[in-house]
Amino acid sequence: MTTHPSSTAAVPLVSVIPRHIAIIMDGNGRWATKRFLPRVTGHVKGVDAVRRTVEACARSGVEYLTLFAFSSENWRRPADEVSLLMRLFVTALDREVAKMHANGIRLKVVGELSRFDDKLRGMINNAERRTAGNTGLTVTICANYGGRWDIMQAMNQLVARQPGRTDFNEDDLAPFLSMAYAPEPDLFIRTGGEERVSNFLLWQLAYSEMYFTDSYWPDFDASALELAITSYQQRERRFGRTSEQLVEQKKAS
Ligand code: IPE
Ligand code: IPE
Ligand code: MG
Repeated sequence: MTTHPSSTAAVPLVSVIPRHIAIIMDGNGRWATKRFLPRVTGHVKGVDAVRRTVEACARSGVEYLTLFAFSSENWRRPADEVSLLMRLFVTALDREVAKMHANGIRLKVVGELSRFDDKLRGMINNAERRTAGNTGLTVTICANYGGRWDIMQAMNQLVARQPGRTDFNEDDLAPFLSMAYAPEPDLFIRTGGEERVSNFLLWQLAYSEMYFTDSYWPDFDASALELAITSYQQRERRFGRTSEQLVEQKKAS
């Protein structure tokens, strides 16, 4: 059973501050190239932007922050960039987890983790276990994550439990998705100027508000987040209904 209602089954409650923000942190490479620096410098700077964003979300009362750190397609990059990204992940976990824990942040890492080495998997496990009881902001890192992978792994788990059944519905599948512990994202942000989903949370983004900015991820900060939230606050989230229905509902409440 899923603990969070599905946006296609019931109209979710909409709050002024988005409960869940999901971000494609893009543009690290271009940020560096523009400055005649190696791409990896952009990734290193990207970690600072992650820290700023986590802090800003915690301060603003966002409940869930989900960050796309490495996609299932990013293995296609040059081997030295992939291994630098892995090392960066290890150092960031090493440096940041204690501080996150002290600030009541719960850390989750989702994706096909079996492709990572034992050391990294062990660190992920420890970090998740250590922060599991925290009740502040939940930060989810999507690592070797793909939206299609997520749907397929959920489907495989479901079918394994009830072999032969052919009438599954959305509610049957949802609890097996890797982010079943979180409500669907209210706000999706992509930095770096591209306007695409790149196989991020395909299922969960069904009714998310989309926000794209040209600025590169290493430049993202609290004021950039505020701009995105302000844009979100100006949207009318209809979930299939008409604008007139929303006006009526407001009058009635
Ligand atoms: C995002 O920045 C970080 C990862 C995908 C790991 P990019 O590395 O994609 O930066 P650009 O898009 O090449 O500028
Ligand atoms: C998406 O960025 C993945 C992450 C930010 C981790 P990419 O830079 O890999 O996306 P594409 O390849 O431009 O679509
Ligand atoms: Mg990119």
